[in-house]
Amino acid sequence: MQEAAAERVLSWGLAQLRDLPWRHTRDPWAVLVSEVMLQQTQVERVVPRWFSFLEAFPTPQACAEAELGDVLRLWQGLGYPRRARNLHAAAQRVTELGEFPRTLAGLLALPGVGQYTARALQAFAFEDDAAVVDTNIARVFARYCGRRLTAREVQTIADDAQPLAQSWAWNQCVMDLGAVLCRPTSPRCAECPLIDDCAYHGVGDDPAPGSAGVSGRQSRFEGSDRQGRGRLMHAMAVAPVNHAALALVMHWPDDHERAQRVAATLVTDGLAVFDPVAATYSLP
Ligand code: ADE
Repeated sequence: MQEAAAERVLSWGLAQLRDLPWRHTRDPWAVLVSEVMLQQTQVERVVPRWFSFLEAFPTPQACAEAELGDVLRLWQGLGYPRRARNLHAAAQRVTELGEFPRTLAGLLALPGVGQYTARALQAFAFEDDAAVVDTNIARVFARYCGRRLTAREVQTIADDAQPLAQSWAWNQCVMDLGAVLCRPTSPRCAECPLIDDCAYHGVGDDPAPGSAGVSGRQSRFEGSDRQGRGRLMHAMAVAPVNHAALALVMHWPDDHERAQRVAATLVTDGLAVFDPVAATYSLP
C-alpha cells in the first residue's frame, strides 16, 4: 500500500474512531480481556461484560487466584467458554512471570494467545510496531489487492502497509475501516478513503470471501451441540447437575446419549468436572 493511501486511512480513521472503552487504556490485561471477548462476540455485547469482568478481576493476579468456575460464571452468556479457560490460564502464567511478555514469541507462549491476539497486545497495549490481522482487516486487504489472499499473504501485506511508530492508531483505524465502511455486504465504497486505490472498489467478484482470516458466518446455534453445551454451562453455574438430568437440562429429552456425549466434551475441554460418586457435573 502506498504511503499516501495509508495516510488517508489514518486521517479518515482518526476523525471518526468509535469511542470504545478499551481504546482508553493501555493496560495489557484490560486489552487482552477485550481482544479475547471481541474474537467471537459483537462489540455492543462486549462493552458491559468487559467492565464487569475487569471489576471482578482488575489484574491478572486477581484472575489467577480465582477458581476457574468463578471465571466461567462471569463469562456466562458470552459463549465459547474455552476463551475464559484460556484467559484464566494466561493470567496464571503472567502472574508466574511477574509481568506481561512484550515480544511476539513471549506473547505467543501465553495460553490461548495466537498470532492475532499477540499482535493486538503489541499494538494496543505496548504501542509497538505490529500489524494486526483480524477478519475485518483481512477483508480490507483482500479487496484492496483484488484477489483471494492466504493468511501468510495478508500478514505480509499488512506488515508492509503499516506506517511505523503509529501502530495503535493504524490498527484501530484499519479495523474500523473494515467494520464501518468495508463491511462484508453492502460496503460503503463511496465514502472509503481507499476508493481510488482499491482493486475491488465494490465492482465485480468480491475477493474477500475465501481469503484466509475472513471467517465464514458462525455456525448455526439453534439445535447445535454448542447450544447444549451452553445450557449445561448455564445450569452448572447455579448448581451441580446430576447425570440423570443431563438430557433435560440440555433440552434433548429423547436423546440422553447425545447429552452424555456432549457433556463429555466439556469435561475433556476442562470446562466441567464429573464426580463419579455423586454422579454430578459441576464447574471446575
Ligand atoms: N475487534 C477486535 N478488536 C477490536 C478493537 N480493538 N476495537 C474494535 N473492535 C475490535
